[in-house]
Amino acid sequence: MKNRMMDITVKVQAVDAAAFKADLLAVGVFADAPCGRAAAAVNKKLSDALGRLKRLGDFEGKAQTTALVYGDGKIAAARVLFVGLGEKAKCDAHTLRKAAATAANQATELKAKTVGLLLGDGAAVDAFAIGQTLAEGACFGAYRYDEYIAEADKKRPAALTAVILATDQHSFAAIKKGAAVGVITGAAQNAARTLANRPANVITPATLAAEAKKVAAQTRGLRCTALDEKQLSAKKFGGILAVGQGSHNPPRLVLLHYKPAKTTAKTPKIALVGKAITFDSGGISIKPGEGMHDMKFDKSGGIAVLYAMRAIAQLKPNAEVYGLIPTAENMPSGRSYRPGDIITTFSGTTVEIQNTDAEGRMILCDAIAYAKTLGCKTIVDVATLTGACVVAIGQKRAGLMGNDDGLIAQLKDASAKTGERLWHLPCDDEYVEAMKSKVADLKNTGGKWAGACTAAAFLSQFAQGVRWAHLDIAGVGVWGADEKDAPGSIGFGVRLLTEFVCGGK
Ligand code: BES
Ligand code: MN
Ligand code: ZN
Repeated sequence: MKNRMMDITVKVQAVDAAAFKADLLAVGVFADAPCGRAAAAVNKKLSDALGRLKRLGDFEGKAQTTALVYGDGKIAAARVLFVGLGEKAKCDAHTLRKAAATAANQATELKAKTVGLLLGDGAAVDAFAIGQTLAEGACFGAYRYDEYIAEADKKRPAALTAVILATDQHSFAAIKKGAAVGVITGAAQNAARTLANRPANVITPATLAAEAKKVAAQTRGLRCTALDEKQLSAKKFGGILAVGQGSHNPPRLVLLHYKPAKTTAKTPKIALVGKAITFDSGGISIKPGEGMHDMKFDKSGGIAVLYAMRAIAQLKPNAEVYGLIPTAENMPSGRSYRPGDIITTFSGTTVEIQNTDAEGRMILCDAIAYAKTLGCKTIVDVATLTGACVVAIGQKRAGLMGNDDGLIAQLKDASAKTGERLWHLPCDDEYVEAMKSKVADLKNTGGKWAGACTAAAFLSQFAQGVRWAHLDIAGVGVWGADEKDAPGSIGFGVRLLTEFVCGGK
């Protein structure tokens, strides 16, 4: 039985924080500087609670620390959560996003229905960014995945309203504009988390395609079609078909499209391509049992693309964008593709299968080649592609590879804004060498070393002649590595791809 998930609403109000009625009021505190005027006023009404906490050594304003005190009728809010912002000079947009997430997380734990956010006060962050990051953080921190837990709504509020408190009329309008964007990106990220968290008996390629169509139907300016197995066959999507053929749940290629109202010959055409393996058992090259359940998250790249496309259609950038989501279930059966098979992929390039568990690249190569036929000159793919990437750089960053320095720089810029961290890895000729086969044009594994790089090098062969970049999100796509985050997907890539396409908008 599926239950309703928690509703999260974000608003902006220009009000006196001390007079703001709420179950919880979150107040940002610097470690090395007095807090802003509005925060100081709240603290004064609380008879300098902050001073007492500091003198006792219970709370010093260090980043990621909090202290809870009670309003006791001295202010309108029932409780106050002091949230550490760390050193004032280092307090940037990311600090604020995290602080809002901490506050919203606590509010949810306390079953608060309303939480006021007085966090950006005194920080050297522009008002638009304050609005956006606080909205994003509030969405992120309040999120819980509990739709299959009986009475989940007794453990948390049915709905939480987070109110960003603007301290003066001057910044109010800009904060509000920023928050309007932050609500779009934050809600998209949470929706992606939910779909990624759903298990493989619920999300199959067909239900994923149906979900994408539903999202598009509810979003102005976003269109969605999906190719079924017959259409994939007719169009010779050999890679997607090979991976999907072992499962009773047949594969799909989901196509999303956003086109601005006015386009010229100069309007960029971008493709976002996301791997959506609804379950990766490894196939005939079956994975060990331990941890296999986490392979329901192997659809995370495709889902990031789906919800980035929703956010993009809502933010209306001046770029034509295709979202391509090849989706299949990788299962062992009498119909599965096998090691040794030679597959003719969509582009005509043949691939010798050495390991059926290297399936992500087999579906991505078809979608990347197809994106080129749509006229896309920039292609970014996102995929939980290799365990090797996690070995190389861990669970806090995604691997970034590509064939164009300008595109790599653009993605790094977007990453600097959204806080979804990347690390640039190589994928040039020496890695391509490792992917050459003796019996086909390429093989699908590259041996023992540099697995993330050889996987990307394989993909690069299908992106020749266009700008292409690849995000390996295996480390960040499966589980949030931060223990403070709600268990399950963190929706990595949704905000990053949106920022990449909409840049600064
Ligand atoms: N989906 C996995 C990669 C993965 C591993 C994602 C761990 C998240 C956490 C991918 O399809 C896979 O199985 N890759 C193989 C490739 C190998 C067979 C060349 C891997 O990484 O072991
Ligand atoms: Mn695999
Ligand atoms: Zn996989």
